[in-house]
Amino acid sequence: MRTPSRPALLLAFLGALALVSALASCRGDGRHADAPWTPAELALIESLSPPPTAPPPSPSNRVADDERAAALGHALFFDTRLSANGQVACATCHKPELYFTDGLPTARGLGKTKRHAPTVLGAAFVTFPFWDGRKDSLWAQAHGPLEAPEEHGLTRVQVATLIQTHYRADYEALFGPLPDLSDAARFPPEARPIPNKPNAVASAKWQSLSAPDREAINTIFANVGKALEAYERKLLPQPAPFDAYVKALQSGDPRGGGHLSPEARRGLRAFIGEAQCVNCHNGPLLTDMEFHNLGLPFDPYSNVDMGRAIGAVEVLGDEFRCGSPYSDQDPATCDQLRFLNPRFEDFRGAFKTPSLRNVARTGPYMHDGQLQTLAEVIAFYKTLPGRAQVGHRELVLTLLTEDVPAGDLIAFLESLTGPLPDDRWARPPAP
Ligand code: HEC
Ligand code: HEC
Repeated sequence: MRTPSRPALLLAFLGALALVSALASCRGDGRHADAPWTPAELALIESLSPPPTAPPPSPSNRVADDERAAALGHALFFDTRLSANGQVACATCHKPELYFTDGLPTARGLGKTKRHAPTVLGAAFVTFPFWDGRKDSLWAQAHGPLEAPEEHGLTRVQVATLIQTHYRADYEALFGPLPDLSDAARFPPEARPIPNKPNAVASAKWQSLSAPDREAINTIFANVGKALEAYERKLLPQPAPFDAYVKALQSGDPRGGGHLSPEARRGLRAFIGEAQCVNCHNGPLLTDMEFHNLGLPFDPYSNVDMGRAIGAVEVLGDEFRCGSPYSDQDPATCDQLRFLNPRFEDFRGAFKTPSLRNVARTGPYMHDGQLQTLAEVIAFYKTLPGRAQVGHRELVLTLLTEDVPAGDLIAFLESLTGPLPDDRWARPPAP
């Protein structure tokens, strides 16, 4: 038998080299939808799924998992009587059919708010509610919209009185007897504390209440929040096609049961790979629950939004925070506040990473709703136009490459849409 000639050997060697490098680049450039996942990629993918089936403990709220509290919170969430004009409920801005958002860039109640209404699905997992994290529990979060003049437009005294009028029995079964609030001279309806405005009429009226009366009103206000939280804990994101894909991968089917299109699979590859999205959008809710400055485009004539830099100061000063007399948590365990440094430089202009579950249904996007579609969001990430209005843009974002097809990332994001939770909780309660 003839031994192969030198040129033939060289050719065979070069051919093998080309094949190896083609395979490597397949993997490396992340374009090939069907390339098998490496063990490291698989581990990363598995860490994004499935969505949790139960809310985490809520030690600051002793009725968090009480079914009667959830039923009361359910009623309150949809009740427009809890507003100054009788027309605004939580559900006005958190509409179940819109995945508990409102479809508007910035939300509207009695007036216009400055920020976009995030979904309430999965809010039970949020450590610091609001885009700037200015509350440290879901029950204390509820106080914000109730007293905001552009949202429900009530005072806490009015909230307490409305509870007495419409929900007395349900409330008392959970929290004990309500005080007699009928004396309007003792409990002026317009009384509420306005932080930073101690001389405003409402603030002065609030100060005119005796200390025990203020405490009694605050206790009712806290309990209303706790019932609302018990309801919101029922609103969990449901498994999506992406989760079915991961489950099939785990059961040994390298095709993932065909639950993701080739585009979505390429998008997933970019998401966990070269696009670096998973740096911040990680875990089963696809958020790190941290605050980052993306350096979004801004209107030079608008007020600067300091985001987390102010939110961190506000949560530390909140009268309903962990460690306050209204919290049911052992004050010795309020670690997340103890280790919070509001002067942290990177908090300037930073906002909370939102969960990407159901994101295709919760637009417009970003804290101010400035991006209308997912295509606009991806276009932003690809070009990173301009610079931050305040602070500086998170450096990790500069790692993004421009050549990840937008359509792939969008297809992946769309695969995170699951059905709405249990019909009972996603509808107004039966009258
Ligand atoms: C006028 C519209 C409006 C109403 C009414 C309203 N919200 Fe919101 N909600 C918003 C907006 C806007 C934000 C974000 C505000 C911010 O971050 O500064 C928000 C944020 C939230 C969040 C934080 C979610 C997160 O991921 O941080 C929760 C929870 C929530 N609302 C629940 C409620 C509840 C409960 C009620 C009723 C008591 C309510 N909302 C009433 C517009 C509204
Ligand atoms: C540095 C952390 C970080 C990285 C990396 C990152 N994001 Fe985000 N993402 C955020 C934050 C923070 C926001 C909210 C910013 C705001 O409103 O000011 C956000 C918002 C979004 C939104 C809008 C969600 C909503 O409800 O408004 C989408 C969609 C999104 N990111 C997808 C992606 C994709 C896709 C990638 C990768 C190309 C990515 N993100 C990379 C932190 C990050």
